Amino acid sequence: MIKKVSVNTIKKKKINNEKITALTAYDYSTGMCLDEAGIDIILVGDSLAMVALGYPTTHAVGVDEMYIFTKAVAKGVNRAMVITDMPFMSYGVSVENAMENFAKMIKVGANAVKLEGCNDYILQIIERCNNTGIPVLGHLGFTPQFLNTIGGYNIQGKTLETTELILKRAKQLQDAGVFAIVLEMVPEESAKYITENLEVPTIGIGAGKYCSGQILVSDDLFGKYSDFTPKFARKYADIRSVMKDAVTNYINDVKNSAFPAENEVFKLSEEELNKLMGEINC
Ligand code: KIV
Repeated sequence: MIKKVSVNTIKKKKINNEKITALTAYDYSTGMCLDEAGIDIILVGDSLAMVALGYPTTHAVGVDEMYIFTKAVAKGVNRAMVITDMPFMSYGVSVENAMENFAKMIKVGANAVKLEGCNDYILQIIERCNNTGIPVLGHLGFTPQFLNTIGGYNIQGKTLETTELILKRAKQLQDAGVFAIVLEMVPEESAKYITENLEVPTIGIGAGKYCSGQILVSDDLFGKYSDFTPKFARKYADIRSVMKDAVTNYINDVKNSAFPAENEVFKLSEEELNKLMGEINC
């Protein structure tokens, strides 16, 4: 029987000095592929706003869309922990409304939710999640939902003062009960300091090698999304070229009548053919 990755598996990995592996997925077959490859965490990231839906930022995506993508991914996953990245304003209106939105995701197969930032209100939500059995993954450093208040895609924690502030918030999240924290776009030295001073694991994206684990947007790793590639995103394949070549070959084959071939069509038996011809001639 497959042993599902749980919050305990993730926490233990930091204790045992084992790296946590995480990637995003937005559909059933990609979720299945990442799971079969042995990934620990699959995040249904709100990055799907750009990568899957073509919006300029994550702000445009809503609960209804995240619900559909979460449902699709969760159906394809057996072992990995599936986490829904709660979208902009899906937890900003009220604690009650936030809890209703989280419940929707858990009911269709998410094992946890991810929330950006840390303030008294977020800490209150995390407490409610603890009381209702919803694990929370925190997210600090650069938090895309705060793009307009941060003022750009800026690296966070470049000074001792700002690094201490991220650590302070991380400790508050930890005390409130998150099982891990994503650190995005933080200098490697700062992320190391933060990771070493926390009990819960950190999962870095553009935060260097000392984090307890790493996460990337899978379309960046596959080389499928080409609008923008961040410095920290390593391209492990060139799926876009593979797809384009396949489509070009298909177009040529159709134009030259090389597709479909004999073994790709349905044929009538001789008896069926004779019957048909007889009916046509009547
Ligand atoms: O939405 C996203 O993809 C994220 C990253 C941490 C991968 O939040």
